[in-house]
Amino acid sequence: MTQTNQGFDTLAVHAGTEPDPATGARQVPIYQSTSYVFRDADHAARLFNLEEVGYIYSRLTNPTVGALAARVAALEGAVGGIGCSSGHAAQIMALFPLMGPGCNVVASSRLYGGTITQFSQTIRRFGWSAKFVDTDDLDAVRAAIDDDTRALFCETIANPGGYVTDLDAMARIAEDAGIPLIVDNTTATPYLCRPIDHGATLVVHSATKYLTGNGTVTGGIVVDSGKFDWSASDRFPSLSQPEPAYHGLNFHGALGPMAFTFHSIAVGLRDLGMTMNPQGAHYTLMGIETLGLRMERHVANAKAVAEWLEKDPRVEAVTFAGLPSSPWAERAQRIVPKGAGALFTVAVKGGYDACVKLVDSLELLSHVANLGDTRSLIIHPASTTHRQLDEAQQIAAGAAPNVVRISIGIENVEDIIADLDQALTKATA
Ligand SMILES: Cc1ncc(COP(=O)(O)O)c(C=O)c1O
Repeated sequence: MTQTNQGFDTLAVHAGTEPDPATGARQVPIYQSTSYVFRDADHAARLFNLEEVGYIYSRLTNPTVGALAARVAALEGAVGGIGCSSGHAAQIMALFPLMGPGCNVVASSRLYGGTITQFSQTIRRFGWSAKFVDTDDLDAVRAAIDDDTRALFCETIANPGGYVTDLDAMARIAEDAGIPLIVDNTTATPYLCRPIDHGATLVVHSATKYLTGNGTVTGGIVVDSGKFDWSASDRFPSLSQPEPAYHGLNFHGALGPMAFTFHSIAVGLRDLGMTMNPQGAHYTLMGIETLGLRMERHVANAKAVAEWLEKDPRVEAVTFAGLPSSPWAERAQRIVPKGAGALFTVAVKGGYDACVKLVDSLELLSHVANLGDTRSLIIHPASTTHRQLDEAQQIAAGAAPNVVRISIGIENVEDIIADLDQALTKATA
């Protein structure tokens, strides 16, 4: 049985799993099964009534996906988790039990571009909306929250700029307003930061990135601290009042700290179907086993590359929060003391054209729309990941047209620097 007081690397290898009870298999099998045989009709009824925990149908729960959700929950200090089909699905799944038509989420203006589009455009089809604020302006965050606000949303280390959010300040504002703080911890991972320790209620991940770590899976996870009192107000009726979508069950009353997790499975996954597949969950479990080791190398390499770039006359600015010159250096020490991640932007002298030439001249760094891979990756956000945003939104998100985003991998750092060096020469010739 896994102990939650074990160290990070022990939990990363063991949490959520035991030798397979049927075969003794030491590694978590890929349970590639859609359904599970009920012992008898009473067993089936108990499972459907949530009186007994077990497996019914893999859109709801699957042993491999369940092992992954439990492992991420253990690493994040959460009580439960839900495996989802992507990071974007995890964001919708996090909001789903909280929101209803007319409700809004107050979100940081510094987010992954796809999230800004999801929140500013797509969720409006559900009758939900988002208000974007600079989370360094705490008065603006407070002022944006109104009676219809159901959550505050931010990223620990924001994509693309590597900006570090003051999670403690966000959590205090959320607590005063009686709403949960949702933190996208994709780029920090629980190795660098556990948002629940800073007061977050829900943590979401794109497992596509560092958790899996090698660019093989599209997946997402939501975990719940279990600490939010859903019944303290009438704002979260799906959790605190009889849920019509689940024969009138009061999830908070019946399941206490597991209310959000069970609602997300029994109603969210059941009806939205944003389910993670068992093979993807297996790869992510494999990736997490080495998460601590990889993150150590990612942050050491990122620091060395950022320091080198900052001194280079061909470079205008580097946004890595681990640099002493960063306006967020002090905050980074508090929020991500083991390292400010491995994702940042670089403003290249020569602007847009130089950025495009740089991307085309690299040989070791891959030009892809991904981050958090063992390989070093680069992209020009303004023309790709942040393309759907207008220029003001791009600048607010840290994705101005004259910057490239770099995700530093775990290769030998001198090789990363050598590749950037030769490409910068061509880009700024
Ligand atoms: C910080 C962050 N959150 C969420 C997502 C969405 O994740 P996915 O691509 O797995 O849907 C991304 C994707 O790049 C991301 O960078």
